[in-house]
Amino acid sequence: MTGWNCPHCAQTLHKHERTYRCEAGHCFDEAREGYVNLLPANRKRSREPGDNREMIEARKRVHAAEVYRPLAQEIAVRLAEWLPASPRVLDLGCGEGYYSGVLLQRLADMSLWGIDIAKPAVRLAAKAHHRGKFAVASAFAVPLPDASLDGVFTVFAPASDAELARLLPPGGLYLNVCPAAGHLWELRQQLYAQPRPHREEVAALPGLVLESQDSVEFAVTLAPELLEDLVAMTPYAYGGERESKAQLSALGEFKVQMAFLLQRYRREKVA
Ligand SMILES: C[S@@+](CC[C@H](N)C(=O)[O-])C[C@H]1O[C@@H](n2cnc3c(N)ncnc32)[C@H](O)[C@@H]1O
Ligand SMILES: [Zn+2]
Repeated sequence: MTGWNCPHCAQTLHKHERTYRCEAGHCFDEAREGYVNLLPANRKRSREPGDNREMIEARKRVHAAEVYRPLAQEIAVRLAEWLPASPRVLDLGCGEGYYSGVLLQRLADMSLWGIDIAKPAVRLAAKAHHRGKFAVASAFAVPLPDASLDGVFTVFAPASDAELARLLPPGGLYLNVCPAAGHLWELRQQLYAQPRPHREEVAALPGLVLESQDSVEFAVTLAPELLEDLVAMTPYAYGGERESKAQLSALGEFKVQMAFLLQRYRREKVA
C-alpha cells in the first residue's frame, strides 16, 4: 500500500491514531481537516509558500461556479481511459482539490493523493474530499515512494522532471494540463494594449515520452464578480493595465474562450 514518506529521511510513515511516524522517530500530526503537513520549515522559501489566500479564495469561488467543469470532465474521461483499474493517482499542485474532487466522483476505484505547497489550499482540499489523501509538500520533493503511482497529473502547476521519473514505474502516465494559445483571449484583449497569445510548449521530460496532445476548448459567460475572481486567480492578477482592470467590472456579462492542452506522457519502459 502506497503511503506518505518522511520528508526528512524518506522512510515510510506509519500512522498511529493521528500521528505519522517514521522508524527514525520523525513525526507529523494529522490536522483536524485530515491532511498532514510534510513540508519541513527549512524548505519553505517564504512564510506562506504557493498561492496566497486571496488567489485561493478567488479560485474556490470560480470552481464553485463550475467554470472549469468541461475541462475537469474531459480530464476524468481521459484518465479513466488511460489508467489501469484501481489506479493510484497523484494530483500535483492540487490547490483546493477541485480536479481531485471530480476524479474521485468519476473513478470510484481510484486511490488519490494530492499535494500542494500552499497550506490553506490543502486544508480546503482535505475538508472537501475525505476519500483523498492530502499533504502540504513540494512538487520538487514529493513525499511518496519510488514507482508508487500509476498516474500523476498537473493542472497549471509546476512539476519536477526528476520527481515525475522517480514516482512513475515504466508505463506510468503523466498528464500535464496547461493553457493553449487562445486561452482567455478576450480577457487579455481587455487587459493589455498589445495582447499576446499563450506560448504553447511541449516540454522534453527525461525518461518520459509524449504520447499525445489534445486540445479542449469551450466558451463561458461570466458575471462581473466571477470575471474579477478569474483575474485574481491567474497571472493577470499581477499584470495588465490598472485602468483596464478597473473597467472589467463595468463590462457586465462577459464571454470568454477557455482553451487548454492535455499533454499525455508515459514513463519509458525499460527494454
Ligand atoms: C494555478 S494553481 C492550480 C491549482 C489547481 N491545480 C487548480 O487548477 O485548481 C497552481 C498551484 O500550484 C501550487 N504550487 C506552486 N508551487 C508549488 C510547488 N513547488 N510545489 C507544490 N505546489 C506548488 C500553488 O500553491 C497553487 O495551488
Ligand atoms: Zn524520518
